[in-house]
Amino acid sequence: MLIEHLTRQLHEREAQFLRRRRRVAETACAPQQRLTIDGGRPREMLGFCSNDYLGLANHPELIAAMGEGAALYGAGSGASHLVSGHSRAHADVEQALAATQSATIPGCEALFFCTGFMANMALLTALGDAKAMLFSDKLNHASLIDGSRLAKAKVLTYPHKRMDLLDALLESSDSPIKIIVTDAVFSMDGDIAPMDKLLALADKHDAYIVVDDAHGFGVLGPQGRGTLAHFGLSSQRFILMGTLGKALGVAGAFVAAHPTVIAWLVQSARAYIYTTAAPPAVAHAVGVSLKLVMGEEGDRRRAHLATLGRSLHESLAGIVEALALTEWSAPDSQTPIHPFIVGDNKNALSLAAQLDTQGLWVPAIRPPTVPAGTARLRITLSASHTEADVWRLCSVLADAAESMLP
Ligand SMILES: Cc1ncc(COP(=O)(O)O)c(C=O)c1O
Repeated sequence: MLIEHLTRQLHEREAQFLRRRRRVAETACAPQQRLTIDGGRPREMLGFCSNDYLGLANHPELIAAMGEGAALYGAGSGASHLVSGHSRAHADVEQALAATQSATIPGCEALFFCTGFMANMALLTALGDAKAMLFSDKLNHASLIDGSRLAKAKVLTYPHKRMDLLDALLESSDSPIKIIVTDAVFSMDGDIAPMDKLLALADKHDAYIVVDDAHGFGVLGPQGRGTLAHFGLSSQRFILMGTLGKALGVAGAFVAAHPTVIAWLVQSARAYIYTTAAPPAVAHAVGVSLKLVMGEEGDRRRAHLATLGRSLHESLAGIVEALALTEWSAPDSQTPIHPFIVGDNKNALSLAAQLDTQGLWVPAIRPPTVPAGTARLRITLSASHTEADVWRLCSVLADAAESMLP
C-alpha cells in the first residue's frame, strides 16, 4: 500500500512538472563542470546554480587545509561534541567565527554546527519553549519553518518584510519571550531583510531576532562579515546563524549570540547534542577559508561578484523590456542570487530545458519552494564566473525567451 501511495504521488508531481531530479557532478564544484544526467553520457556544462559565491570550494588552499586537518585530527570526530568529538580545530574556529561578529553582537560567543539546517532546528527548538512566541517571515527558509514547527512555542507568520504587520503582531502579543525569525537574504529572491527596521521593532517590543545569514555571510558587509555588518548594526538582541558551505566554500554552520544563549544551546539543543561532531578537518578548513574571505582575496572576489551582478541584472531586465514580457520580471538584487520570474511552472521548465540544450545549467524553481504562480529561474553567480560566462547565459536566455513568445 505504501509503495502504491508513493507511486501515485510521484506521478502527480511528474504531471505537474514538479518532479525533482539529481545530476551527478563528475568534477569539482566550479562554474564549468562535467555532469552525468539520468545515467547518460557525461556532459560539460556551465552552471549558474551553486552557492559557492566566492568560488572557494575548489581553492587549492582549502583543499590543502582539508588534508592538513585530516592529518592532524583524523578523518572523523568519533563522537558528539559533549562526549569526545569536540576538537581543538572546532574550539579555535568557534573563536574566529565569534570574532567576525564581535562588532555586531558585542561580547558574543559562537557554536559550530554540522549544517545550517541543523543549526536552525537546534536554535528554534532550544529557544522556542512553551513560554516563547516566534514571529516568522512568510518566505523564511525551510529549515527555519521546520525548526519553528518542532518548537513548543506558538508561531505567528507575517507577510514577507511587512514591518507594519509584524509591529501589530508584536504589540498584541502578551508572551514574555518574543523572538523574530528571519532570513537575512531570502534564498529564492535574493532580497535583503530590513534588518535596521527589525532591530527597531525588537527594541520597541523587547524582542530578540534570530537571523539566518546563510547567503549574506562571506558576501555582504565589510570583509564579508555579513548582513548585520552591511547595515552597520550592533545589538545583543541578534542571534545570528551563518553557514560555512556557501560563500566559505567548505561545510557546516555557526550560531553567534550572547554567551548565555550559547551556554543554553550546549545544554539543550538536541540537534547539537545528539549528533556526531563534524570532522575536525572541516573546522580546520573553515578557519583557513575565513582568513581568505576576510582578507584582500575576499575583497577582490566580492568586487568581481558585484560587477558581474550589475551586468547580469542589466541584461535580464533588458530581455524582459525588449520582449515586452509583462508577466515576467527580473528584480534587482544586491546579492549573488538573481531570480528571473516567469510565473508558470511549464515556462520555467521550458526555459531551463532550452538553456540545458546549450550546455547551460540554471535550475527552474517551482512551488512549493516558491509561492504558486512565481516559478522562476534562480540564477546564482560565483566570483569564478567571467563576464563572458554572463554574456553567454544572457544571449541564450534571450533567444529562449523570444522562442516562447505567442
Ligand atoms: C537561508 C538558508 N538557511 C539555511 C540553509 C541550510 O544550510 P546548510 O546547507 O548548511 O544546511 C540554507 C541552505 O540552502 C539556506 O538557504
